Formats: sequence, C-alpha cells, structure tokens
Amino acid sequence: MKIGLLGFGTVGKGVYDILAERSDLSVSYVLDLRPLPELEGTGTVVTSDLNTILQDTSVDTVIELIGGMHPAYEFVTASLKAGKNVITANKLMVSKYYRELLSLAAEQNIQLRFSAAAGGGIPWLVNLQRAHRVSRLEAVWGIMNGTTNYILDAMQVFGRDFADALREAQRLGFAEADPSSDIDGLDTRHKTTLSANIAFGVAMDDDAVDTFGIRRVCAGDIAVATEAGYTLKLLGRAQRCGDQVAAWVEPTLVPSDTPEGNIHGCDNIISFEGSHIGKTHFIGAGAGRYPTGYAVAQDCVDLALGCAGLYNERAEEIAPDNNAVLREYYVRGALCDQIPAEWKAAPFGEGIRTQKVPVGEMHALARLAAEKELPFFFAGFAEF
Ligand code: HSE
Repeated sequence: MKIGLLGFGTVGKGVYDILAERSDLSVSYVLDLRPLPELEGTGTVVTSDLNTILQDTSVDTVIELIGGMHPAYEFVTASLKAGKNVITANKLMVSKYYRELLSLAAEQNIQLRFSAAAGGGIPWLVNLQRAHRVSRLEAVWGIMNGTTNYILDAMQVFGRDFADALREAQRLGFAEADPSSDIDGLDTRHKTTLSANIAFGVAMDDDAVDTFGIRRVCAGDIAVATEAGYTLKLLGRAQRCGDQVAAWVEPTLVPSDTPEGNIHGCDNIISFEGSHIGKTHFIGAGAGRYPTGYAVAQDCVDLALGCAGLYNERAEEIAPDNNAVLREYYVRGALCDQIPAEWKAAPFGEGIRTQKVPVGEMHALARLAAEKELPFFFAGFAEF
C-alpha cells in the first residue's frame, strides 16, 4: 500500500514512525507547508501540493491528519473524488459531513475509515460497528476527552488549579490546537455523534447535540462531589428513546466506585449496551501521538487486508430528542433562580439537586443563563 500522509503534526509524526516499522505500508508523500528536513533521505517526498499526491496513480490511500475543517474537508473530498481510499482521525469533519463523505466513498467504490476519530488508541468504533452488525444497541456513553479528564482528575485527586492542569495537558500533547474545543465539550460532542451514528445506523446532526463543558467548574463543585461520594467527569451519552435518539454532553457526577469514577489522567472509558452482550466497557489511551497513530495504522492494515470502510449501510438523518430523557441535576449559581420551582428537590453543596427533569430543557435554560453571562454550573447525576 502506498500512502500520501497529509499533515505532520503530533499524530502525523506518530503514524509515520509506526508505518516506518513495516515493509508492506509505505508513506510515499508527506504533505506539509513546512520543510521537513528529518524526512531527507527516507524516500518520502515532502510536498505542499495535494495534486502531486492525487496524480500519482501508485498512491492508493490518503491519510488526513491536518485536523480542523479547512482545508481538511476539501483535501478529503478531492482525495475521494480522485479514487483514493481515505483514513482520517478528523472527528470535527467526519461528524459534520458524515453522510456526504460516506456517500462519496460508496459512489467511488473506495473505503473511508476513521477509527482514530473517537477513543484515540482504543479499538472503539471498530468494535461498535461489529456490535451493531449483530445486536440492537441501546446506548453509548463515556469519557471521550483526555484533556478534560486530565483537568478534572488533577483538580479532584491532586487539588490542582484548572488553568495549571490545562497547561499541563497541552504540554503533554493531548489538547486540541484550540483547547476550547476540549473544555467546552465540542470534541466530546463530535465523538458522541460519531459513536451514535455507528451504533444506531443514523446520521445525527452534530450541532443539535446539547453540550455543556467544564469551563465553569470550580473547586467548590469538585468538593461537593467528593463529599457526596461522586467523581466529576465530562461524559457524552447517546441512547435510543423509542424510535428517537437522544444525545448530549455534560459534566456528570459518577459514583466514585464505578469504572467511570476511576479513570485517571488522559485515559478514556467508552461503553455500549446492547442485546446479547449487555454492557461492555473499553478503557485506554484516548489521545496522544502513538495511541492515535496506532489506530490510524490499524486502519491502514485493515485496508491492506481488504476490509470494508468504517460505516454502516444505513445512515438516516435525525436530530436528537433530548426531552425524552429525564435525569437529576446538581445546579449551582444563578441557574438556581432560572429553573422552575417544581424542579427543586434538595440542597446540594452551594446549590441544589433537582428532581428528574428533561435533559433538553436543562440545557436550554443553561444556554439562556450563559447568554446573559450569569455565573452558574450544572452537572447531571449519572444513570448507567
Ligand atoms: N483533544 C483530544 C483529547 C485529543 O483531549 O482527547 C484526542 O481526540
């Protein structure tokens, strides 16, 4: 297999190193705007022109690791149209253009794989797809973002400061180029959308997934969680509700004696529940150069072995219906005055614990409070 590798950042370099250990997969080109003296003498051509790669008929596969929406989207669609298989780790792009990219790959009779787009090195999406082939999946959920887990863990276990822990996650290479995507929950949202798409055979509108991140968490929220026997984590969840699907991302109070309550550092845990097999958990390195590079390399090997692309035949377009799910919330700050009186159940730390309330309504109220720039925080109580 001859490969054109787009992007030579943290993950691109990791993929390059892993593929260099093999004789059956060779990186013919690296596309990067920078000169890459470290590749001199390796036989890999460095180019800044995608057409050089697309016009080389010996290249059958393009790996996109530029990240972000543009020019990654244009480069991926051009590669598919040129008849190249595409492997990408780009959760932003694939969650946004899921149906379009799948259709394009199917029209061209080529393969599109994106195992590294959720779970980093954890063999998550591949196994989710296998589960979907045989079982009816009811729910997917998990800690899918290493940066936020690193920050919350550092705050809860070591009493560290938010900004300090974020800087450390950036230094370790887990965080996105713009870490607001991590801390505002968008990265988890893309991964939740992709997981739901594969689990339920749908194409969910990623922008319609209610999302609240950890930007507003304070030491007092962590303290009340700990005192009550919970660990605060950022979780994504998608589940069936009759014919509908609900999906959301929010800080979540998980009982400290659960698997989710014991995921430390930048590790992820992602789970599914389905017929025949019940609840199944996957734990491991969700971010980082070599774990993510490993998942990309696995896609290369799968393609070389003739495996099909990573998607389902069915991808029905849907918007999540989050008012079909009820759960209890911890609410702190100005949001306590915004929520209906009948939602309030009991005091909890400096805030309150609510009755079971619709997830969609809770997020809608939080969006209003955020627009008014009110100080508040909320977290759901886990129900696994
Ligand atoms: N920024 C992401 C994380 C990288 O922290 O998990 C892996 O997708």
